[in-house]
Amino acid sequence: MNILFVSSEIHPLIKTGGLADVSRSLPLALHQAGVNIRVLVPGYPAVMARLTEPCQPQLLAPELIHTPAQLLQTTLPGTSLPLLVLDCPALFDRPGPSPYQNPQGQDWWDNALRFGALSRIAQHLCSAHSPLEWRPDLLHCNDWQSALAPALLALHGQPTFPTLLTVHNLAFQGNFDALWLSRLGLPVGAFHPEALEFHGQLSFLKAGLRFAQRLTTVSPRYAQEIQTAQFGCGLEGLLHQRQSDLLGILNGIDPEWHPATDPLIAHAYDLSKLASKALNKEALQRHLGLRAEPQSLLVGMVTRLTHQKGIDLVLECLESMMQHPVQVAILGSGDSPTENRLREFSIRHPGRISVTLAFSEPLSHQIIAGSDLLLMPSRFEPCGLTQLYAMAYGTVPLVHRTGGLADTVRDELDADQQAGTGFCFDQPNADALWGTFLRALQCYSHPERWRTLQTNGMRRDSSWEHAAQEYLSLYQSLC
Ligand code: ADP
Ligand code: GLC
Repeated sequence: MNILFVSSEIHPLIKTGGLADVSRSLPLALHQAGVNIRVLVPGYPAVMARLTEPCQPQLLAPELIHTPAQLLQTTLPGTSLPLLVLDCPALFDRPGPSPYQNPQGQDWWDNALRFGALSRIAQHLCSAHSPLEWRPDLLHCNDWQSALAPALLALHGQPTFPTLLTVHNLAFQGNFDALWLSRLGLPVGAFHPEALEFHGQLSFLKAGLRFAQRLTTVSPRYAQEIQTAQFGCGLEGLLHQRQSDLLGILNGIDPEWHPATDPLIAHAYDLSKLASKALNKEALQRHLGLRAEPQSLLVGMVTRLTHQKGIDLVLECLESMMQHPVQVAILGSGDSPTENRLREFSIRHPGRISVTLAFSEPLSHQIIAGSDLLLMPSRFEPCGLTQLYAMAYGTVPLVHRTGGLADTVRDELDADQQAGTGFCFDQPNADALWGTFLRALQCYSHPERWRTLQTNGMRRDSSWEHAAQEYLSLYQSLC
C-alpha cells in the first residue's frame, strides 16, 4: 500500500511543536513496518539546507500553482524514509525560523497561497497527471496546512480517492478571506456552510473535516472533547455529525527520546541506573545557574508560552513556589508580555528560577532529563508529547486532566498507588494547580512513593508500534 503523508513540519528539519515530532516518528514507524510511505513537506530554507541525498528534481507544470516549482525526491537525513520536498522559492524561501510567520511574528500575508499550494501538489500527486511514477493509494493529511487537499480531490473529480485527515490541534484552522477562493482555483459554488465556508471565511481545516473520508485526532479523549462546544472551536457540530468517521489514536514517541541512548543529555541512565538521573539534575543546575541543591524539587517546563499551555496559571503560582524548597527551569517562547513576566521572576529569584526564552532541542532534552517534576497545566491538549517524554525519563508529570494528558497520565490517587504515573487536577485554574502542586511536593519528600511514580512512568509503553498498527488498519479499511 502506498501512502502519501503531508505535513508542514518534520523533525529534525523544521519544528515548532509536536506536529514535527509525529510527522517524523509515525511515518518512520510505518516505513519500518513495511508500508510504502512518502512524506511531502515544503522546501523552507531549513529543509533545503539539510538535503544531502541525490534529489531527482521533477518540474511541476506552471499552471498548477502559478509559480515555478519542482519536486525533490530524497530521504529524511539520517533515515531511509522517503521524503518529497516542494521546492518553490517564491512561496517557501522566507527568512526567520518560523514556517508560518515573518521575523516580526506576523503570519505571512500569503499563507493561504503557500499552504494552498502544498495541498494542491498533494492532490496532484494523487492524480493520473502526477509527474511521479509512484502513485499513492491513500492521502494522509495533517492539520490545516494540508487539509485543503481532500476538498481539492473531491471538487476536482476524485471524490472517492481515499483520504484521512489527522487533527493535531483544532485551534489552528487556517481561516482566510474569501477572496482567496479564486486564487486557489476553488469553485465559488463550494463557498457555503456545508463545504468550505466558516463564519464568512474560507477555512482550510473545515474543508478537510468536511471532505476527508476519515478523521483522526491524536488521543481518544480529545476526539470526544472536540464534539462539545467547550473544545470544538465552533466546529463541534460538524465533528459530531461525522463522529462515526472520527477516531482518536494516541501518539507514541520516537526512540530517540530514551535516557539510555540520548546523546543530548549529560549522563545516560535507565531504570536500573536511576541514580544517574541525579547527575543530570546536577548538570542542569550548573548549566542554568541554579543553586547546587540536590534536595530541592526541580520543576521543569518545555513549552510554547501560550494560553493553551496554561502558562498564566503557572505565573500565578511561581511566587508561592518560592516559599518552598523548589527550583524552576522553563524553556519556551511565545507572546512578549508572558516572556517579560517570566524574565522578571528569574531576575527576582536568581539561582532558583531559570527562564530560557528560545527554541532549543538540546536544552529541551536536558530539562526533561534533569527535572524531578514536569508541569503541563494545558487548558486543552490534543495529545501532548512532553509528558510522554517526561515519563520515559523518570520525570513525574503534573497535568490538567484534559485530552491526551488525561489519556496518558494516571494520578497516584486515581487507581491504587501502585499504578500511578503522576499528578492530575481537574479545573484549569491556579487554585487547583497549586493544591496539586503541594500534593506533589509532599510526595517528593517520600522517596519510595516518588520512586514508584518514576518506575511506572519509565515502564509505560509509549512506543509507536501500537499506534502505527492502528493507522495501518485504518488505511487498509479505506483502500
Ligand atoms: P505542542 O505541539 O502543542 O507544542 P507537544 O507536547 O505535542 O505540544 O509537543 C511539543 C514539542 O515541541 C516537544 O517535542 C517539545 O520538546 C518541543 N518544544 C516546545 N517548546 C520548545 C522549546 N522552546 N525548545 C525546544 N523544544 C520545544
Ligand atoms: C499539536 C498538539 C499536541 C500534540 C501534537 C502532536 O501540536 O497541540 O497536543 O501532541 O500536535 O500530535
